[in-house]
Amino acid sequence: MSRPAPADVRTVACIGAGTIGGGWAAYFLARGYRVVAWDPAADGAPRLRHLVQQAWPALTDLGLAEGASIDNLEVEPGLAAACAQADFVQESAPEVIDLKRTLLAEIDAATPADVVISSSTSGFAMSEMQDRCAHPERTVVGHPFNPPYLIPLVEVVGGRATSPDAVAWASDFYRHAGKSVITMDHEVPGFIANRLQEALWREALHMVAAGEATVEQIDLSITDGPGLRWPVQGPMLTFHLAGGQGGMAHMLDHFGPSLQSPWTRLVAAELTPELRDAVVEGCEREAGSRTIDDLVAERDRGVIAVLRALGRA
Ligand SMILES: NC(=O)c1ccc[n+]([C@@H]2O[C@H](COP(=O)([O-])OP(=O)(O)OC[C@H]3O[C@@H](n4cnc5c(N)ncnc54)[C@H](O)[C@@H]3O)[C@@H](O)[C@H]2O)c1
Repeated sequence: MSRPAPADVRTVACIGAGTIGGGWAAYFLARGYRVVAWDPAADGAPRLRHLVQQAWPALTDLGLAEGASIDNLEVEPGLAAACAQADFVQESAPEVIDLKRTLLAEIDAATPADVVISSSTSGFAMSEMQDRCAHPERTVVGHPFNPPYLIPLVEVVGGRATSPDAVAWASDFYRHAGKSVITMDHEVPGFIANRLQEALWREALHMVAAGEATVEQIDLSITDGPGLRWPVQGPMLTFHLAGGQGGMAHMLDHFGPSLQSPWTRLVAAELTPELRDAVVEGCEREAGSRTIDDLVAERDRGVIAVLRALGRA
């Protein structure tokens, strides 16, 4: 078995080193890993080194792991040489389905058996990409957010041929490397966070196209509105507090009828008793021992901290 324990990973291969692959390389270097990278572009190596240099002050500010150094970056002249040394592979090539399918097969052929191969894809399902691999069971999606060296979230999901072990291993590895991980049970186009981002994005484009809002109004509506609460509490807990002491149950009973209003071009889910219970129970589970008063105090502290950090309070 050539798959090390997640805590024993030493060398990460970054295949494709543009915005995301370079960001991953910077992150893994800062966490103390050795990074071997490969990018087919003629200027791939200097671009990657520039990107890592650019990220390094921010990563230093956040605190480097013991032994972390830019000198632990090696750019390889070929894909096979990089993959052969890897305890883990992060693929970040362009979002083109045929390219991903061919590239993953090449990575699979060059990487020691069992070593987990993860794709940064923004929205392709691993089931669509893994079919040319001889060992598709070790291929997963590890979807990051730009810049991967600062944004903690990674969404991990396997494809039809992926083994549950590989999904669990990748989730453990990313967590060990300091990431915040969502492990998904099944493939959903765009995963979770991109679906939510995309809903907002598409509505924003509709509003500009229809002359309903300007670009500036859209940005201000988020940076000075709901966007200030989201770093503290997600959309569910935020609306839990919109229900006052009655929490999400009151919120849904009170505002449920608004789901029929034309407030978005997205078709509303039918607010069945099952959906109502799932959302109410989810909020109660997430709140745990925190009362509504605790959550209000937490939100207020967080929003003030964000405003002060931005020099706006
Ligand atoms: N940019 C984002 O915000 C973002 C966020 C999350 C995920 N992603 C995903 O990350 C992946 C990379 O996106 P990006 O924004 O870094 O793109 P990019 O264009 O900045 O970088 C892609 C890199 O891949 C290299 N490349 C081209 N052909 C290749 C091949 N056959 N094999 C290996 N590398 C190759 C290019 O030279 C380039 O350096 C995509 O799957 C994208 O969907 C992007």
